[in-house]
Amino acid sequence: MADTWETLERECMACRGCALAEGRHTVVFGDGARDAEILLIGEGPGQREDEQGIPFVGPAGQLLDDMLEIIGLDRTKVYIANVVKCRPPGNRDPLNTEQEVCLPWLRRQTALLRPRVIVCLGRIAAKAIIKEDFRITAEHGQWFVRNGVQMTALYHPAALLRDDAKRPETFDDLKSIQAKLRELGLPAGR
Ligand code: URA
Repeated sequence: MADTWETLERECMACRGCALAEGRHTVVFGDGARDAEILLIGEGPGQREDEQGIPFVGPAGQLLDDMLEIIGLDRTKVYIANVVKCRPPGNRDPLNTEQEVCLPWLRRQTALLRPRVIVCLGRIAAKAIIKEDFRITAEHGQWFVRNGVQMTALYHPAALLRDDAKRPETFDDLKSIQAKLRELGLPAGR
C-alpha cells in the first residue's frame, strides 16, 4: 500500500528502534508544509524540541527562523526534520548506529515530500545526506545533485550561536540558496 504522512507519523511516533527511545520525552517527527519544495534537515532534537515535539524551537531554532526570513522563507514554505527523531542524552552527537536505525524515517518523509532542494544544517546532516566525507568548513554553501535533487549544507545554527565569525559566510550561503530557488522557479521571497 502507498505510504502516507499519517501512517508514517503514527509508526514513527511509536518507534523503539534504538536506545534513544528510553530517554526521550517525545519523538520529534517534523514540522512545516508537507507539500514544501524545500527540505531542511538538522541533526537531532535538543531539550526544548524533546519537550515540545517540534524541531528547532530552542535558541538555534530562533536563529534558524531569522535565517529563513533573510531569504523570504518561513515554516509555512519549508519542511523541517532531523536525522534522528529522539534526543541524544546531553545533546551529544547521534551515534552512527542510531542514525542508521532512524534514517529510514527521513527517507520516507523525503519520498512523500519530493523536495526540489535539500538544505542540511550542520556536519552531521551533511555527512548523512550528501556524502560520508563531507567537510562542513570547506564545503558549506556548495551545491551537489543527487537523483535530480539540489543539495547544500549550512553551518548548524547552534555553531553560529557559538561563533559569530561564521555568520558572514552563512549569509552568502543563504543568498546562494535564494538564487538557486529563483533559478528553479521556486518562491524565494525577497
Ligand atoms: N538542533 C537540531 O539539529 N535539530 C533540532 O531540532 C534542534 C536543534
